[in-house]
Amino acid sequence: MSHIPVLLKEVIEILDPKAGEAVIDGTAGDGGHAEKILERIGDSGKLLLIDWDKENISKLENKMKLNKNTFCVAGNYAKLPQIMAMNNFPKADGLLLDLGFSSEQLEMRNRGFSFRSDEPLIMTYGDESESLKDFLKRVNVAELAEIIRKFGEERYAERIAEAIMENLRKINTSRELAEVIKKSVPKFYEYGRIHPATRTFQALRIYLNGELENLEKVLDLLDRILNPGGRVVIISFHSLEDRIVKLNFNESAKKGRLRLLTKKPICPSEEEVIKNFRSRSAKLRAAAII
Ligand SMILES: C[S@@+](CC[C@H](N)C(=O)[O-])C[C@H]1O[C@@H](n2cnc3c(N)ncnc32)[C@H](O)[C@@H]1O
Repeated sequence: MSHIPVLLKEVIEILDPKAGEAVIDGTAGDGGHAEKILERIGDSGKLLLIDWDKENISKLENKMKLNKNTFCVAGNYAKLPQIMAMNNFPKADGLLLDLGFSSEQLEMRNRGFSFRSDEPLIMTYGDESESLKDFLKRVNVAELAEIIRKFGEERYAERIAEAIMENLRKINTSRELAEVIKKSVPKFYEYGRIHPATRTFQALRIYLNGELENLEKVLDLLDRILNPGGRVVIISFHSLEDRIVKLNFNESAKKGRLRLLTKKPICPSEEEVIKNFRSRSAKLRAAAII
């Protein structure tokens, strides 16, 4: 299934890309948002598309109607100033970050994001990060429990961590890992709204990819990335990310560095959630550089 862009209308309205502007999509994914941005900025605009997953980047290069002013780069958005310098990309008028992973990565990529199929224990977007397999070899129960608790807000973190470490030899795929987690939690948890491994998988993905650190880094770099008046739009999918964006924006607004474009986060309509269940936890916050 291809990825459906979340809050597309709202992103374009607030990012407000205009003809001739320079815009960066730091999490280009399947290019759903990028396609609309490109339509708005036109041939005179410049677009920088970044994704840490190099397969996404090669797909975008083939799929999108890119013009000579579009640059596709496989890399981490936390290194945006270096990526911009290497590609001679000017300070931008807009930056979009649509955090996390795409439906395509979950279903097609074979990097261990899915708990429904037998995929290798990788769970990273880029190849340079430590894989889940290597991480599990070196971690102890207490450290693992802490990671699951902190990044997954999982109430059964300790028993899940114990079960994973006890069954380590038997866990060779993401589905096998999910099965061990499922067996370690109380029965009622199994019949909840989400799969019992959801929070643990989220925690491991956030930890291995340094997702919260990447977000904090890019937020601190905004005045090197954007021109005065430039807009930044961020869509987050869980409270840990949203808290970081909210605190950073509020702090920067107080210091006179940013002007808030959203007082409260924008969430998808019921209609959007029905069409795209993945959008249910999305929160959009935006600000402009002063
Ligand atoms: C939710 S998807 C983006 C979907 C995209 N907006 C679209 O409309 O198709 C998030 C993407 O961000 C990428 N990603 C995650 N962390 C990243 C990082 N630190 N730097 C660059 N890309 C990252 C993932 O590989 C994934 O493709």
